[in-house]
Amino acid sequence: AAEAAAGVSTSTNAMPQPEVSREVTVLFGSQTGNCQRLAASLSRKLEEQGFKVTVAAMNSFKPNGLKKIENLLLLVSTHGEGEPPDNARAFHEFLYSKRAPQLPQLRYSVLALGDTSYEFFCQTGKDFDQKLEELGAQRLTPRADCDLDYDEPVAEWFEHVIRSLSGSGSQQAAGIADEAVLAAESAESLESAYSRNHPFHAEVLENLNLNGRGSDRETRHLELSLAGSNITFEPGDSLGVYPENHPQLVQDIIAAMGWEAGESVPLNKKGEEGTLHEALLRHYEITVLTKPLLEQAAKLNSAPALQELLSPDRQQELKNYIHGRDLLDLIQDFAPWEVPARSFVTILRKLPARLYSIASSYNANPDEVHFTVRAVRYESHGRERYGVCSVHCAERAEPGATLPVYIQNNPNFKLPSNPDTPVIMIGPGTGVAPFRSFLEEREEQGAQGKSWLFYGDRHFVTDFLYQTDWQRMLKDGVLSRLDVAFSRDTDEKVYVQHRILEKSRELYTWLQEGAHVYVCGDEKHMAHDVHAALITVIQQEGGLSPEGAAAYLENLQQEQRYQRDVY
Ligand code: 2AM
Repeated sequence: AAEAAAGVSTSTNAMPQPEVSREVTVLFGSQTGNCQRLAASLSRKLEEQGFKVTVAAMNSFKPNGLKKIENLLLLVSTHGEGEPPDNARAFHEFLYSKRAPQLPQLRYSVLALGDTSYEFFCQTGKDFDQKLEELGAQRLTPRADCDLDYDEPVAEWFEHVIRSLSGSGSQQAAGIADEAVLAAESAESLESAYSRNHPFHAEVLENLNLNGRGSDRETRHLELSLAGSNITFEPGDSLGVYPENHPQLVQDIIAAMGWEAGESVPLNKKGEEGTLHEALLRHYEITVLTKPLLEQAAKLNSAPALQELLSPDRQQELKNYIHGRDLLDLIQDFAPWEVPARSFVTILRKLPARLYSIASSYNANPDEVHFTVRAVRYESHGRERYGVCSVHCAERAEPGATLPVYIQNNPNFKLPSNPDTPVIMIGPGTGVAPFRSFLEEREEQGAQGKSWLFYGDRHFVTDFLYQTDWQRMLKDGVLSRLDVAFSRDTDEKVYVQHRILEKSRELYTWLQEGAHVYVCGDEKHMAHDVHAALITVIQQEGGLSPEGAAAYLENLQQEQRYQRDVY
């Protein structure tokens, strides 16, 4: 009787619900930690709704277990040219291998994080979604593909997923919606009141150029005050920094459109208002063109050239056009517009924060955070271009100014819990930043484990970032070994991977002794070449086949002994 009564009170049309499993498996593939945090948040929501939840990283889940699962939720990001995060690769490979079983009993849904300015937007999420369908699984709710500003679509997907797992669109499920909107955010603000959506305005204490006179690079070392924020962090974490666009670019856009800098426009989707100048300076992205942006722009401007650029048979031309151009180019190339600023800004993406590896240890420098930024300046399509955040930090973040910041935990780039474990750190260029944090922390801990740093840049004299820090640490014994590769001091280029190969015997010994290996910096070339060099070392010194060596390294990755923070 009680059940019948409950049925009546929650549902107006008393359709019997099919028996559905209350067990849910949530798997994430995460490089910078976003999907991991969202998975934790979703799991909490599901548990509150009475589900029994198993949450795991894709690489710590035994894929054979898939056959026994009824409800599967996947959260995964995409990197580089459509690649999975490190901790999703093995699972991705498994599903695409002959070993993948048919999964007719499985219901699933995919949340994909990505960036619409990349060609292979959300590719890894799309791969999983398609593959599971091919294997006979039932899609529970449609996949959600999220751009950088993911809060809203994530909240919607959460809501859909919870609702369909709950078995209906009942009133009870509808009540979850509002809470789900907050879920993503609350997950981020567990440790401090400040988060991606509520950054802390940190005062700049120090801003130094680390490159010597005559260098063709400018790398800034910034120190910020966290006093009063309660923000803490661990070595390996990143700092999210909200930059301002270049004031000149903002001014040029306003002039080209014939708008008024002081007119009022919406600053965000929540309907807050501000001046156009403020909106373009701090709230909207104006330096990147994406396909969705051009599609929206084409609705505001009937110029035949713009319409044609978007026709389905001109994909390649569209790609070429977008590359290296910004909003000012779009405005100038397809003038006249005759669009009010109010409508135009609504098609722009929110200006995203940039993530930088933290270069200091909180324990060594309480209430401070240090980071390292290389100023990006280049010419493209006849105009000087500036990296938004890097040039803001280089030119307009003097001591006394403030920067809106938050901490992005990176669970996939952490010192070994045992301070006696040896560490090998490979970080050319600004990739060396987190290792300053690692070594400061090990110094604080009085760690006994050996440490080995591989560093590289162009010139010894002008580009040896944090040289005096490393020298002091060597002297004090916090750093046991330092190998450097300056690529432009000699006729032939030398890179960190050449030093790794030269020291292969010793490096392999360290690995056999249980060393953890960390790689930070450029993903496309450096991290790839270093990966190959490590395989060569293992093959050569371990007497293994190329496949055996690759499996050895894969296993290190699985055991979290080989971690990468690459971008
Ligand atoms: P280069 O600019 O002289 O080619 C930091 O930017 C350092 O990384 C520079 O010395 C740069 O050398 C070097 N670098 C460039 N490509 C690399 C690669 N594929 N592997 C390792 N280091 C690389």
